[in-house]
Amino acid sequence: MNIILLGAPGVGKGTQAQLLVERDGFVQLSTGDILRSEVQKGTPLGIKAKFFMDKGELVPDDVILEMVASKIIIGESYLFDGFPRTIPQAEGLDRLLVEKAMRIDRVISLELNNEEIIRRLSARRVAINSGRVYNLIFNPPKVDGKCDITGETLIQRSDDMPEAIQVRLKEYERKTAPLFDYYQSKVGVKVVDALGDIETVYSRIKAALL
Ligand code: AP5
Repeated sequence: MNIILLGAPGVGKGTQAQLLVERDGFVQLSTGDILRSEVQKGTPLGIKAKFFMDKGELVPDDVILEMVASKIIIGESYLFDGFPRTIPQAEGLDRLLVEKAMRIDRVISLELNNEEIIRRLSARRVAINSGRVYNLIFNPPKVDGKCDITGETLIQRSDDMPEAIQVRLKEYERKTAPLFDYYQSKVGVKVVDALGDIETVYSRIKAALL
C-alpha cells in the first residue's frame, strides 16, 4: 500500500511517518529530509535547495521530481511525506508510478489550526545528524539540548524562525492546499484531526488506513 500524508508545515507529518515506519513497515519518502541531508553534505543540489528552504519557499518542481524519481523502488510500500507539494509534482508522481505499475492507495490529510501549528514549529528541535524530532513543550528530550537516543546536539531548523514559518504557511495555502481536490477526485482523501497527543493522532491515521 502506498500512502500520501498531506498537511501544512508542522502539522505532525514527520512525527507520524516515523511511527508508521517503525510499527507498520512503510518506507518513508520525505523530500524535506532528503533535501536537508543534501544541504548538510553541501552537494550542488543542497546548495541550490538551501536558497529556497531558508526563506520557507518551495524548491522548484523539476529539481524535486528528478530527486524523487531516483528513489522509488518497485515493490516497496511508500509513505510520501511532504511530497507532492504542487499540482505539477502530483502529475509527475502519477507518471512515475504508472511507469513502475504502482499506485497511490490512500491519501491522508492531517488538519490543525494555524495557532497550534505555530506553537509546535516554534518549539521544535531536531537532532543535528539523525533529524529525530523533539518538541520543547510536547515531547521534550530527557536531557536539555541532547537527543535521547544518540546524545547528538539538538538544533532549531532555520525555517522554524517566525518569518520563514509565515512564508511556509502561505506557500502551503497557495500551492499545496489545491492537492486536496486533486486527490479527492482521484482516490478520495481521508481527513484526520491532528489536534491531540501523538498516539491519539496515530490511532486516527490507522483507522483511516483500514
Ligand atoms: P519539510 O521538511 O517537508 O517541512 P514541512 O512540510 O514544512 O513539514 P515540517 O517538517 O515542518 O512539519 P511536520 O508536519 O513534519 O511536523 P513534525 O512532525 O516535525 O520541508 C521543508 C522545506 O523543504 C520546505 O519548506 C521546502 O523549502 C522544501 N521542500 C520539501 N519538500 C518539498 C517539495 N516536495 N517541493 C518543494 N519544496 C520542498 O512536528 C512539528 C512539531 O510538532 C515537532 O516538534 C513535533 O515533536 C511536534 N508534534 C508532532 N505531533 C504532535 C502532537 N500530536 N502533539 C504535540 N506536538 C506534536
